[in-house]
Amino acid sequence: MTYQISSLEDYKQTYQRSIDDPEGFWADQAETFTWRKKWDSVLEWDFREPNIKWFSGAKLNITENCLDRHIATRGDQVAILWEPNNPADEVQKFTYRELLAAVCKCANALKALGIEKGDRVVFYMPMVPELAIAVLACARIGAVHSVVFAGFSAQALADRVNDASAKMIICSDFNNRGSKHIPVKKVVDEAMAKGCPSIENILVHKNSNEDIEWSDKDVWWHDQVAGQSEECPAEIMDAEDLLFILYTSGSTGKPKGVVHTCGGYMVYTCFTFKNAFQYKDGDIYWCTADIGWITGHSYIVYGPLLAGATSVMFEGVPTYPDAGRFWEICEKHQVNQFYTAPTAIRALMARGDEWPNKYDLSPLKLLGSVGEPINEEAWNWYNKTIGKEKSPIIDTWWQTETGGIMITPLPGITDAKPTYASYPMPGVQPVLLDADGNLVEGNNVEGLLCIKFPWPAMLRTTYGDHERCRQTYFSVFKDMYFTGDGARRDEEGRIRVIGRVDDVMNVSGHRMGTAEVENAINEHENVIESAVVGYPHEIKGQGIYAYVITDGSKGGEDLINEIRAVVTREIGPIAKPDKIQVVSGLPKTRSGKIMRRILRKIAAKDTSNLGDVSTLLNPEIVEEIIKGSL
Ligand code: WT7
Repeated sequence: MTYQISSLEDYKQTYQRSIDDPEGFWADQAETFTWRKKWDSVLEWDFREPNIKWFSGAKLNITENCLDRHIATRGDQVAILWEPNNPADEVQKFTYRELLAAVCKCANALKALGIEKGDRVVFYMPMVPELAIAVLACARIGAVHSVVFAGFSAQALADRVNDASAKMIICSDFNNRGSKHIPVKKVVDEAMAKGCPSIENILVHKNSNEDIEWSDKDVWWHDQVAGQSEECPAEIMDAEDLLFILYTSGSTGKPKGVVHTCGGYMVYTCFTFKNAFQYKDGDIYWCTADIGWITGHSYIVYGPLLAGATSVMFEGVPTYPDAGRFWEICEKHQVNQFYTAPTAIRALMARGDEWPNKYDLSPLKLLGSVGEPINEEAWNWYNKTIGKEKSPIIDTWWQTETGGIMITPLPGITDAKPTYASYPMPGVQPVLLDADGNLVEGNNVEGLLCIKFPWPAMLRTTYGDHERCRQTYFSVFKDMYFTGDGARRDEEGRIRVIGRVDDVMNVSGHRMGTAEVENAINEHENVIESAVVGYPHEIKGQGIYAYVITDGSKGGEDLINEIRAVVTREIGPIAKPDKIQVVSGLPKTRSGKIMRRILRKIAAKDTSNLGDVSTLLNPEIVEEIIKGSL
């Protein structure tokens, strides 16, 4: 069994050992899994390339560890408990035995459609059990899954399909989200119409009774999967073979495909799941994320299943049919560990205490937060109103690139201070640097957050563009992984992650590049130039503020609505600017670089100290922008 830290002393010793002897430490963790062949070496690394290999030479299949190895001990335990969007619809429960059978059937169906080891399969699905099943089916046969959040646009989907040269798309016909019935397959059809030449088939899961358009590449899930054998031998993978690609935004326009591999990701997600959530046999664990994001990959699917947990998966939204839905589900399924995002906490807090107070939340013994900094007010509400001051809160800091939780309190073991992610996981060596790359030592200091030693679930490359991976994460500071975040270390050494220091925004826990949104806005025919920044937003954490220069031929509400529509078309509704201000110019340096620092301050209504603007090419524009600001 994966090691579970049980006391503060134990944490201190375990952490120390993981630093003194990382290879010995991770080899011990890895020993608890099923391998077809053990590793030749635990770790080979060079951050300059970067070249990172964990458990080199080892052979395994992650689904044997998620499923097969649990059959003898917990075959009849529920693995995935699925709660539908509509509370009146039927809950679905898959025991480990049933889930293994379902995964094998799907795996055989994929094979019958010609999917082989190494092929890329893109997902565009709502939160239905078939999504988890098909992701695992890919892993079973060694195909590389790339899940695209079903809120992205056809263009964004096509871009990802083409970047990955995917052979297949797996989608549903419709997505039930709150009162909305969203035609998902239609978006896939639009993406196909834009040109996705590598796609051979589209496997369509039926999620409604409505008719849809059909093409000769389309195959119904129920036709293809029915009748397949419930046994499928697991493809034997190298520890460093690709497990999945997940696209995420960066500071340049094009999202990058973060690559995770089989062995290290397995060991790390299981270890962090068991320890951060202190999961005990019989607990019911619920993470409210979408599998379209890394949180869903690591802490709905892989981590919990590797640890033999019961993982709740929810199709719907927090406010449907009413603002009590999360708490109703907690009571209904007797949830013990609950993991959600600050944006959801703030939105529900705004609806008032009467919603959670209607339900019995006494089984809850741990609350988790992820995706963005949690403000003190939301932390306190979560602690009092949901946790009744008896459930420790873990504020977990990590990233798509880190694969798993990096910095977090351990519930009931280390202390918890509002807004502090606090302490590193064993094996994680965070440091703070100043802008020149000097170590910022001591406590009560701020700096740029870097990690100075590899951990098993770290990204290996960005798909198809290793140089971009090197430049983004490993070239900013020598021999360091650079996170892109700024952080503070308090008197007692706890870490608080303050936010991004690059041109990346965090909107409702969703990562969005400013350049990506600008590129979309610039697609509008009357827009000449734009600059996008994040600003503090009460519910979303950050809102999107766009400054646009137009050709003057159009204005008013029409223009604003059209720009929003263009962004929705190019990226998806999650990237829609909250505020759009038409300006006649943007503050630029003499070399033509937009001074975003100034724009950020104006958007935040913090214009008292704009710094020296006299070196700008066009200092007069600043006053104009402030006057017209929203
Ligand atoms: C960025 C990563 C982690 C999975 C979901 C988001 C921010 C994440 C925290 C936290 C403060 C946080 C960081 C990070 N972030 N968790 N607990 N406290 N900030 O993954 O989309 O890759 O975004 O989210 O800025 O760099 P992601």
